[in-house]
Amino acid sequence: MQEQLALEPNTIHLWSCFCNEITDTSLLANYIALLEEEEKTKHQRFYFEKSRHQYLITRALVRSVLSLYANIEPDQWRFIKNAYGRPEISPLLPRQKPYSNLRFNLSHADGLIICGVTTNHEIGVDVENLTRTNDVLGIADRYFSSTEVTELFSQPNTHQRARFFDYWTLKESYIKAKGMGLSLPLDQFSFHVPQNTPITISFDPRLKDNPDHWRFWRYRPSNEHQIALAVESSSSSREMMSVQSYQIVPLQNWSKFSIIEL
Ligand SMILES: CC(C)(COP(=O)(O)OP(=O)(O)OC[C@H]1O[C@@H](n2cnc3c(N)ncnc32)[C@H](O)[C@@H]1OP(=O)(O)O)[C@@H](O)C(=O)NCCC(=O)NCCS
Repeated sequence: MQEQLALEPNTIHLWSCFCNEITDTSLLANYIALLEEEEKTKHQRFYFEKSRHQYLITRALVRSVLSLYANIEPDQWRFIKNAYGRPEISPLLPRQKPYSNLRFNLSHADGLIICGVTTNHEIGVDVENLTRTNDVLGIADRYFSSTEVTELFSQPNTHQRARFFDYWTLKESYIKAKGMGLSLPLDQFSFHVPQNTPITISFDPRLKDNPDHWRFWRYRPSNEHQIALAVESSSSSREMMSVQSYQIVPLQNWSKFSIIEL
């Protein structure tokens, strides 16, 4: 049985796993032992070793993190996917109080895998490697909303790349919290990222969403990575939500992680 961790209401736990640092072959063998047959087959099919490694550690991460909140062993978790591919805990597993509505979301980038966990709220996370992607203005022009494009292009050249990743990760975190992937038109919602005040979102009326129901955070967990976190909450719990950050080597150790909030 793993150690258990309390997850208070209106709290989000953000887990980071620096996957390139995990090389111990006996630990990796223990991760393989956690997989279901279908996952083992998929794991074997990756052509690139880097992708195979990331896939294995992602599976080990989500299983060992979830077991911190429930009396379910890491290899006993079962998942289903929604119509847009979002993994969720199988409804066939026993729901355990106080975490009967545990929600999670995963994201991976070169070198870092993250998992956000909360109860009762929709959650979306995104991590990007900041050294990736060169044609940032071209991508923004094609996919971002007109207000985001205007704001991005009005930034000094030296700030544009950083602002691009703000928008990119935030937009991904929102569509992942909605669980609908790229079926949501990226230009129909706009982020506003003023300095020293909370991040806000606005919606095209066609999306029929309420900006007051959303909270967003941005983090820099390493020099190379940026994280965005989106959580849907009722207006009454909006003010009280807090994020606690941890880092983990699945099945081995975990600790609090001092992460820089942007
Ligand atoms: C699939 C998608 C949800 C995320 O893809 P991504 O950014 O390539 O990958 P990430 O590493 O952030 O997230 C992948 C994880 O999200 C989860 N996921 C998959 N589908 C999801 C969905 N519909 N909703 C929420 N989460 C989803 C899965 O856990 C997946 O990891 P897994 O396959 O190892 O379990 C979708 O947003 C996408 O295809 N994005 C493409 C990138 C893009 O064009 N972004 C535009 C930003 S402006």
